[in-house]
Amino acid sequence: MSTQLHADPAATAFAAKHHRMLIGGDWVDSHSGKTFDTYNPATGEVLASIPAGDSEDIDRAVKTARAAFENPTWANMHPATRGKLLHKLGDLILEHADELATLDTLDNGKPFAVARAADIPLAADLFHYMAGWATKLNGSTISLSVPYMPDAQFHAYTLREPIGVVGQIIPWNFPLLMAAWKLGPALTTGCTVVLKPAEQTPLSALRLGELILEAGFPEGVVNIITGLGEEAGAPLAAHDDVDKIAFTGSTEVGKLIVQAAAGNLKKVSLELGGKSPNLLFADADMATAVPGAASAIFFNQGQVCCAGSRLYVENSVYDDVLQGLSDAAKSIKVGNGLDPSTDMGPLTSQEQLDRVTNYLSIGESEGARNITGGKRWGSQGYFVEPTVLADTTEDMRVVKEEIFGPVLSVSPFKDVDELTAKANKSNFGLASGVWTKDLSKAHRAAKAIKAGTVWVNCFNVFDAALPFGGYKQSGWGREMGGEVLENYLQTKAVTTQI
Ligand code: NAI
Ligand code: MG
Repeated sequence: MSTQLHADPAATAFAAKHHRMLIGGDWVDSHSGKTFDTYNPATGEVLASIPAGDSEDIDRAVKTARAAFENPTWANMHPATRGKLLHKLGDLILEHADELATLDTLDNGKPFAVARAADIPLAADLFHYMAGWATKLNGSTISLSVPYMPDAQFHAYTLREPIGVVGQIIPWNFPLLMAAWKLGPALTTGCTVVLKPAEQTPLSALRLGELILEAGFPEGVVNIITGLGEEAGAPLAAHDDVDKIAFTGSTEVGKLIVQAAAGNLKKVSLELGGKSPNLLFADADMATAVPGAASAIFFNQGQVCCAGSRLYVENSVYDDVLQGLSDAAKSIKVGNGLDPSTDMGPLTSQEQLDRVTNYLSIGESEGARNITGGKRWGSQGYFVEPTVLADTTEDMRVVKEEIFGPVLSVSPFKDVDELTAKANKSNFGLASGVWTKDLSKAHRAAKAIKAGTVWVNCFNVFDAALPFGGYKQSGWGREMGGEVLENYLQTKAVTTQI
């Protein structure tokens, strides 16, 4: 098999360099001098050596972020100037889009074409959208009627102030985009940040750190500490001088974050796992619904917190839909993300490969009917075949647990009540999909589903203006839209007797 791999030269040069962490305006080694390796998931070969930050590095970064938060250069910066910096950063991301997309492909495995079309422009959009909020963080004036001061008059208003020093811990499935989702709202509100990228995929965040300095953000406003979860993430979540921690990742670690935050009662926002139901009615437009349901699970190798991993199909079209899904899965070209003809890349790590193939054996032993796929793809790198499991039932682990791979479970339904009960029978509540031409049915389902996102006749549609986040154990708070700003602001009430 001949493959033509195209890697942006700026990205390969960046990947090969000596990597350091960003504290203040300086690029530094970890104080211990320790490093860890990252791997190219398409080959399993070592990609880069990355500083292994620990609690001492976190402490230094937090002190630096605190000083930057208090520094008038940032604290008194005009909101419009903050907005301009965010715009500039969005522009720089677009200027370096090929390089950043390639870094995410090398680190995460995702197809370059996907990163270039989705991750990178979405990250730039997020900064451009958030730039506009900098000048619109207004409080309100409030009329008072204080019962025990009947003759007094007041002028009362609220101020919306940044919460302070923010710790942000992000995952590896959308490396640059997750950094953008976190940094954009923190910076537009005037917070300062210590960002900890995932140990599997730190490269684009480190390159972003350079672009942040180039855009002109004052030193210390953004600090980036690379390291392992327990060594660098845990001390950040526990740090007494961090005012707020924002986390995206597993529900398991989300619970640890909440415990760690209790020490100084720092504010917490969490974007966690999912097992999102996708409801396909017989009256759907099958030409869009079937490929839509396939892409809902196979996009990004299934490593998506809101992946449509549980598909419920109305009885009368069940067999046809299974056939369509099988055809769609078989037509997906698996390969190295740097090959322009690749539709699906490898999973991001050996750990994910082990995890997903373990779920494939669990599905088999639980009696799920394998329609297509079902095993590792190739012998090099961390690839898994796009997999469809049919006739799955609610008690199976492959239906209840987040697999985070290209594995779809499909089961039939008879009526809407049965469907809603099944769809909502989950500890998660991140997203959902509904496929039907009947508008009333669609909106009734949208109301009944307990999830933070409902996509009707589409899936995985993201926009910086749309709030995104979880019901139930899928998280606390929202990312994006105006709503994410609540995570980074606190309200002060000022009352003057006049
Ligand atoms: P993870 O939750 O361990 O890692 C996410 C981030 O948290 C990384 O930056 C990691 O270094 C950090 N972290 C890990 N342990 C920590 C701790 N004790 N304190 C503070 N930070 C810590 O996720 P992992 O192990 O990479 O993946 C396991 C599973 O989690 C996946 O298979 C998937 O099911 C789920 N997941 C969900 C994501 C989402 O977008 N909601 C993203 C990544 C993983
Ligand atoms: Mg983990």
